[in-house]
Amino acid sequence: MKFVYQGKTKDVYALESGNYLLKFKDDVTGEDGVFDPGANTVGLQIEGAGQAGLRLTKYFFEILQEKGIPTHFVDANIENAEMTVRPANVFGKGLEVICRYRAVGSFLRRYGAYAEEGQALDGFVEVTLKDDERQDPPISAEALHMLGILTLNEYDELKNLTRKISDVVKTELAKKGIELYDIKLEFGRDAEDNSILLIDEISGGNMRAYKDGEYIEPLELEKLMVQ
Ligand SMILES: Nc1ncnc2c1ncn2[C@@H]1O[C@H](COP(=O)(O)OP(=O)(O)OP(=O)(O)O)[C@@H](O)[C@H]1O
Ligand SMILES: [Mg+2]
Repeated sequence: MKFVYQGKTKDVYALESGNYLLKFKDDVTGEDGVFDPGANTVGLQIEGAGQAGLRLTKYFFEILQEKGIPTHFVDANIENAEMTVRPANVFGKGLEVICRYRAVGSFLRRYGAYAEEGQALDGFVEVTLKDDERQDPPISAEALHMLGILTLNEYDELKNLTRKISDVVKTELAKKGIELYDIKLEFGRDAEDNSILLIDEISGGNMRAYKDGEYIEPLELEKLMVQ
């Protein structure tokens, strides 16, 4: 297999079959040893974080697949913390699509003059550019279209898919008495037929989940959801 890309929390390899292999690492995003799903730096290492992230990812991607939502998921080897996926081409240099049910994180940092912490938001969707140097700036549909990153139709498709996927995750969490505050997704175009796919991962590392008003750490979330 051929090394393709070293990410912060996963490494990407190309398999001979034409698929990609994502290797989940024990690196976790955050700062100064404190986990932050919105952070652009590796802040700490937690033993077992890679396997836990993959276990939760597998759990959600299988549910989404059953519901007919297009994803890159092929299969997962938990023991090796490896996931086989269909390769996709990301939009521009990559986008993150965020769905927000409560005002926390960067939304609150930006709009704190108008929003209260934890205020309910009705599945508000926003897109940010994956651009670590510029702290992943939010970008509007018009700007995405103007800069040739997405068409307006593709934007609508991403937004609808994001709502649908996030609602599935929110419902699954709610079954265990857990509330989803926000979640970050990635999409790409299938390298073969150009159709839009959910890619990357869905784990504690890219969402904020709370139980009885208390934030749940990624590893704890994995335990509550799949063990
Ligand atoms: N099916 C796929 N096809 C192509 N690339 C993918 C696919 N799924 C995930 N990726 C990419 O693989 C990389 C996974 O690495 P990782 O999650 O560690 O990166 P990251 O933390 O998002 O940060 P960065 O990408 O900025 O280094 C991401 O760049 C993601 O966009
Ligand atoms: Mg990532």
